[in-house]
Amino acid sequence: MVAGMRVPFLRNKMEENMNGKELPIWAVMPQVLAPLREGRNVVVTSPTGSGKTTQVPQAILDSGLAYDGMIFAVQSRRVACRAAAVRVAEERGAQLGREIGYIVRYDRKTSEGTQICFVTDGVLMRFLEKDPELRKVSVVILDEFHERRMLSDAALALMRQVQKKRTNLRLVAMSATLDTLAVQKFLDAAVVDSGGEKLFPIEIRQFGRRPLTRMLPEQIATSVRNLCSSGKSGHILVFLPGKALIQDTRQMLTRRAERFPKEFANTVVLPLHAELSEEEQDRVFKPTAERKIILATNVAETSLTIPGVTMVVDSGLERRARYSPHSSITHLGIVPISKASATQRTGRCGREAPGICVRLWSASEHARLEALTPPEIRRTDVGGLVLSLKAVGVNEVGKFQFFEPPSEERLAKAQELLTRLGALDQGGGLTKIGWKMLRLPLPPRQARMVVEARKSRCLKMVSTIASCMLDPSIFARPMGKREWAQDQHRSFAIDDTSDCFSFLQLVREADHFKFSPEWCTRHAINRSALLEAWRLRWHVMRAVHRIDPMHVAPGREPHLPSLREQRAVIRRCIAAGLVDRVARRVAPGRYELCTGAVVDLDQGSVVDAEWIVAGDMRKVGTTKKAPVRISLATMVDLPMMEQLAPTLFRSSREVIERYPLTKTARVRRERRYLNLVLEQEEGLVADGNAGGESGLAKRLAPLSEAVARLTGKTK
Ligand code: CDP
Ligand code: MG
Repeated sequence: MVAGMRVPFLRNKMEENMNGKELPIWAVMPQVLAPLREGRNVVVTSPTGSGKTTQVPQAILDSGLAYDGMIFAVQSRRVACRAAAVRVAEERGAQLGREIGYIVRYDRKTSEGTQICFVTDGVLMRFLEKDPELRKVSVVILDEFHERRMLSDAALALMRQVQKKRTNLRLVAMSATLDTLAVQKFLDAAVVDSGGEKLFPIEIRQFGRRPLTRMLPEQIATSVRNLCSSGKSGHILVFLPGKALIQDTRQMLTRRAERFPKEFANTVVLPLHAELSEEEQDRVFKPTAERKIILATNVAETSLTIPGVTMVVDSGLERRARYSPHSSITHLGIVPISKASATQRTGRCGREAPGICVRLWSASEHARLEALTPPEIRRTDVGGLVLSLKAVGVNEVGKFQFFEPPSEERLAKAQELLTRLGALDQGGGLTKIGWKMLRLPLPPRQARMVVEARKSRCLKMVSTIASCMLDPSIFARPMGKREWAQDQHRSFAIDDTSDCFSFLQLVREADHFKFSPEWCTRHAINRSALLEAWRLRWHVMRAVHRIDPMHVAPGREPHLPSLREQRAVIRRCIAAGLVDRVARRVAPGRYELCTGAVVDLDQGSVVDAEWIVAGDMRKVGTTKKAPVRISLATMVDLPMMEQLAPTLFRSSREVIERYPLTKTARVRRERRYLNLVLEQEEGLVADGNAGGESGLAKRLAPLSEAVARLTGKTK
């Protein structure tokens, strides 16, 4: 289903004349190659479309700088990887997969003789696992480095380390909009800057206030209609934050075109995102007689260039990973883009002729945008990164030379969580569980749940829950309609032992209604978040299948004998990922967490249990002292936790006072789950002179029956 993007060959006249060699990058190619020849690293900046991705690898190959090794061209997106490989192979008249190849997750075209290989940062990490010195590779090019994705940051740092051992390895970092100084320093590199893009004048039409996300399709349709009837020729490129909104906008445009056939005459609407079939993707690039209205995600921002675009409509939004430090969960959310992104998107319409860019936000909103998109390492959970680093042999991540290190506290916390989840052993090495978690496209907690589910015959359901719980805003709570929304959401509850079961029912019903926008609105469901989870779930199941091909195909999972049994197993899997989120009820709706904090359970919860694990945790309000609320509760019990996390239980005994005259001592014995006291008992015991602690312990045993004082009921 999810095809990487194959980008077709453009055969318009301009292209044929060019054949690559006249692209702007060639003017500075000697400056790129010279330092490499001298054994230095290089940083290249030049505008989008100038030929970095397609020409630099070829120039390096043709000048013999790769010797007999390979050139790895690392792209941040699978889409871009495939597109570049197809294009370069075409330019060289080579068959894809021979001299020029690519490797992305689940798909590769390479052979023994491959010399230029386009790979994603994830694939590069996998190579490093097997061969930490990357012996077969002579040059590594990190493309689109300005995106500052966590893995490409890590790749840069790792490659720099490899370079200390292998002096014949060369590094090139490339970008359209890079602030080069930091990278230049880190790589001790020569900088080649081809100068800014010579754009034609672009008229920027700043809009009124930013529309609500669900009103976007309508706003865009209006803007597109205006542009179509403005008399200006050329294609229209629309930037949207994701597939769901692309689909909605497409429908809206179709309806508008029916109402206003004159304005929309001779136009064709084409989506452009990573999940299209190859044919659908191809159509975007093929010359057409009609005016193209291209609805694209930010793949069209820097990775891919579409010729003939003279108008841009920018929603000003993108889907970006966001990290909530409190819940330590990262999820993809729709957020305003940075000023740098806005500039880049605008530039897409001034490459070949004067352009018009419509921005769907106001000038004052623009002034408040961040200047640059913050690097991923600063805004997502670093747990996955720690796993990846461990896998490539970086044992002490605290001492690793990051390009931009995450805070020590976050690193330490991530390691602590991974240890508690059983992904790292006491020595800090990856365990079997850790290796499996590494292969799943989920953050550590959710990955742990799925690993637990692998042999449980509930894989499908646990994958659904793990994918959905990443974004609890699936259950939307529109302002002013909270209670109504909560009632809607309660209708999905199928079992009072876990709020997470609601996701199963929700997905079942939503699927039945084909995830229709109307159905979602009627049930207060955040449709794009739900679709995101649905997509993720599919990737998760596919990944599980890869780790363990012997596992029964997810669709044909045999059912457990009874529903009760099934739900107990699912609860156990959920708990496996939340071992540090166990809580005990201290009052109705109030729980004491095993961290020691006392918190309220969300009112929407249907769970009524003494012991729970909290699937989500967040602050109510934005102030520093705002209380924390837990939600997505699941009932657990202590025997279950003993199986899942035996090391989190601690027993201790302490002599409070000795009475030498009577040869007795007052002793307190305690059992805890992290900071949560499970049992506590106090009593007098005989204290023989030679007794000491261990002798004491032995004699203490029978005491528990006599003076036990249980503070917690272990149901
Ligand atoms: O990486 P950069 O943005 O600098 O440029 P590139 O991706 O190497 O593309 C150079 C030129 O080749 C662009 O102007 C594109 O129009 C063209 N190209 C194309 O037509 N089809 C492709 N699949 C890739 C590039
Ligand atoms: Mg490029």
